[in-house]
This record gives sequence, structure tokens and C-alpha cells, in this order.
Amino acid sequence: MPGTAIIGLQWGDEAKGKIVDLLTEQNEIVVRYQGGSNAGHTVVANGAKFKLSLIPSGIFRPHVQCVIAGGVVLDPAALLKEIDSLVARGINIGSNLMISDRTHVIFPWHHIADWMFNNIGNDEPIGTTMRGIGPCYEDKVGRSLAIRVGDLFRPDFKELVEHVAGVKNRLFLGLTDHCDNTMRIPGLDAELDAEAIYRQYLGYAERLRSYVADTTNYLLDAVDADKRILFEGAQGSLLDIDHGTFPYVTSSNSSGVGISGGSGVPSHFLKKIIGIVKAYTTRVGGGPCPTEQNNDIGQRIRERGNEFGTVTKRPRRCGWFDAVAVRYSARLSGVDVLSVMLLDVLSGIDCLQICTAYEINGQRIEHFPSQIEYLRKAVPIYETLSGWQEEITGITKYDDLPDNAKRYIKRIAELIGKPVEIVSVGSDRQQTVFV
Ligand code: GDP
Ligand code: IMO
Ligand code: MG
Repeated sequence: MPGTAIIGLQWGDEAKGKIVDLLTEQNEIVVRYQGGSNAGHTVVANGAKFKLSLIPSGIFRPHVQCVIAGGVVLDPAALLKEIDSLVARGINIGSNLMISDRTHVIFPWHHIADWMFNNIGNDEPIGTTMRGIGPCYEDKVGRSLAIRVGDLFRPDFKELVEHVAGVKNRLFLGLTDHCDNTMRIPGLDAELDAEAIYRQYLGYAERLRSYVADTTNYLLDAVDADKRILFEGAQGSLLDIDHGTFPYVTSSNSSGVGISGGSGVPSHFLKKIIGIVKAYTTRVGGGPCPTEQNNDIGQRIRERGNEFGTVTKRPRRCGWFDAVAVRYSARLSGVDVLSVMLLDVLSGIDCLQICTAYEINGQRIEHFPSQIEYLRKAVPIYETLSGWQEEITGITKYDDLPDNAKRYIKRIAELIGKPVEIVSVGSDRQQTVFV
């Protein structure tokens, strides 16, 4: 049976969680394979709202095996909090959750480093979620200061923590001696207490022990057994570390190119990649966003779409649909079909704009630029479509959508070059239209 992937095609928060939850019914395994607690995926089931950060959005269906694969960076405190809050709401979490022993662990020194290096030396900081994600991936790639979930159970774990904390202390104290006050963060004057961190993480390890497994082998066996696997991307393709709007990106391959690397499942197993897009654009944090609307339209979208970060509660930057960016990310991520989300948010706007090209240095450009300075100069060239006044949140059949809403969807499909298979008109499972 085929593997299916859900990939965000913009700058994150495209409502991936909703579609993962919806499609979980047809799958046996749901895998998170990159990112960490920077993600905030919302699932609304029969009026009840759940926000997931590390646990795959398949957790609400009891028959499904959820897997946190080795490409994720795991903050044990965040995960345990999430488990406790779900269990308190009656969700079963036991052997249906598996965590890779290859997953890298986020420690307090990663949070400190996120604070220190968010500012990249110009006026516009990256604006990270401050969850220690980038620094943990740095240590993974650097290898010598990395600690993986499997290491939590080693007999010499205490010595490992002492060693890494000792190195980090020297690095941080050296840096704060020579930096101005903007890089000072509360608590940094005190040294990292290796003994306290060791004890804290030993406690986490005991609670996590029963979930830990070699998920790479588990997934390869599942592939051999023809199991139906759903891969849940976090963030969005334009935040991809290699192919996104660098340096205003996250630290993992959040586009389709990351599925195989993060999970260990060969890419030819993937038979369907569903690209998730909002009917407009949002972005949280720094970096260019050519179609951003710093005006009444942007404000209207933010209010109607409740566009405030799931993780950090920051107001999301909002703007028109950018077909140049999405055409690029759909191709990059190998997308077969599109799912257009939050279409209801656009109801009541007289004229809708879609960006079909950029003007950069007086030239018309139809491809997405690789260099951030170039993208910063991009002036969107818009095509205008008539909007619709009707509320559409109760519509369940494609034919019942207003004609102008259907025209808008059709135009997105044409511009991206992929068919639209799902249209979402509200946050609940039921508010979904199959085309
Ligand atoms: P994710 O990170 O991609 O899973 O997306 P988020 O959960 O961060 O943000 C998407 C938000 O939109 C959540 O609050 C969802 O409940 C909500 N949502 C999902 N689909 C729709 C929709 O079709 N219409 C509206 N109005 N809200 C939606
Ligand atoms: P989901 O999975 C939206 C953004 C941050 C920042 C940049 C780097 O819910 O779509 P990081 O903490 O990853 O080093 O921050 O990436 N970012 C997201 N934006 N949705 C997300 O996840 C995001 N995860 C990270 O705002 O600009
Ligand atoms: Mg989100």
C-alpha cells in the first residue's frame, strides 16, 4: 500500500493538523519526522480543540500507531506535558506512541543558545519560536556535543551531561563576557548546573522509556508488510533549511525533501504527496513575505482566520495568495494534489488578489528567487478575481460553493499546475469539501 505525505507549501500553519487527522482514518501509522515543539498543529473534532506540538496528529484514532522518528528534535519536558494534557482529556497514549532512540534531545543549553543567536546581526531577527530547535540541530550536525534519546539510557549518561554542560558553560560565559547587554538573558550569569540537569533528564528518561524504540527498523518492516503510512510534515516548504527563504527558515528539511531523511523510509515508497495551502498567505517571524498586507485586508484576514501563533501566540503576518512561491514549493515537495484551507476566511471580500509574478529590479520574474536580498525587492504582480459574499462554513459539497469561490480554487489549481482535491471551510473535521 502507498505512503502518503502531508506537506505545508507556505511558511507553516497551513492547517496540516486538520488534514492529517482527517486522513488518519485510512492509515495504520502516522509519522512525525522533522522539527520539534516549534510546531503547533490544531485538530478540532466534534467541537473539541486539541493543539499538538510533538505528538503526531493521528493520536485521536485508537487503531493508529504514532511514530516520532529520528529526524525530530525532542524536548522531553514539552512532550511529557503534551502527553499529560491529552491523557487528562481522555486520549489514550500508551503503546500507540513510539519514539525513535535516534531522536536528538533538546537540553536547557539549546534554549539559551536560541535566545543568544536569534539576532543575526541585522535589523531583522529570525524570530524563532525559542524552543531550542536550531541549536539542537546544530549539535546534531556537529556530533561531539549531541545527545540522542538512546543516550538517556546509557550507564555513562551522567558523565555525558557533565561533559556537554561543561563545554556549554565555557562557551556561554566566554560569549557573555564579550557581548553587549542585548545578548544577556536571565539566568545566564549562573552556570548550567550539570547535576540538576542530569537528575531532571533521568526523570524524563524513566517516563519515556516504554515509548522508545528503533523506529527506522519498525518503519522499514512496515513498508515490507505493505502498511499504510501517513507522513506528517511540520512547518512549511518555504521554511526549509536548504530550499527555503534562508536564513529566515527553520533548521530542518521541512519541504517534501525531508521525508525520507527524517523517517528513514525510502522516497520511492511515497505514492501521494498532498500539498497543504491556505487560501491566502501567512508568515510568523522574520523574513520577506512579498504579498503581506499591512493594512485593513491583512487585519481582516488575521481576525477572521484567528491568525495568531499556535505555539508563541504571535500575530501572524497575513497577505494575498502567492502563486509564485507555492508553484515553487509544490514542485520542490513533489506534490501530486493540493488541499486549499481556510477558504471561508475570504468570504465577504469584494476583490481577491493572487500574485502571479514578481517585479524585481524592473524585470518580470516568474520563478521564486534563491537569494533573500532579491526576494526582499520583489513587488508582487497581481491578478484580481471577484470575491463572494456568502458564508461557506456549512457547505459540504463542492458544487454548492459560490461560483466565484469555485473560480478562485480553479485559478489556484491552474497557476500551481496541480489539481485541488480538498477544500476546507472551517476548522472541524466535518467542514471539509472533497472536490
Ligand atoms: P498547522 O500547523 O499547519 O497544523 O496549522 P495550525 O493549527 O497552526 O493553524 C491552522 C488554524 O486554522 C488552526 O487554528 C485550525 O483549527 C484552523 N483551521 C483549519 N482549517 C480551517 C478552515 O478551513 N477554516 C478556518 N476558519 N480555520 C481552519
Ligand atoms: P507548524 O508545524 C509557522 C518559524 C518561526 C521562525 C522560523 C524559525 O505549526 O506549521 P524555529 O523555532 O523553527 O527555529 O523558528 O520558523 N516556524 C514556524 N512558523 N509554523 C510552524 O510550525 C513553525 N515552526 C517554526 O516563526 O520564523
Ligand atoms: Mg501551526
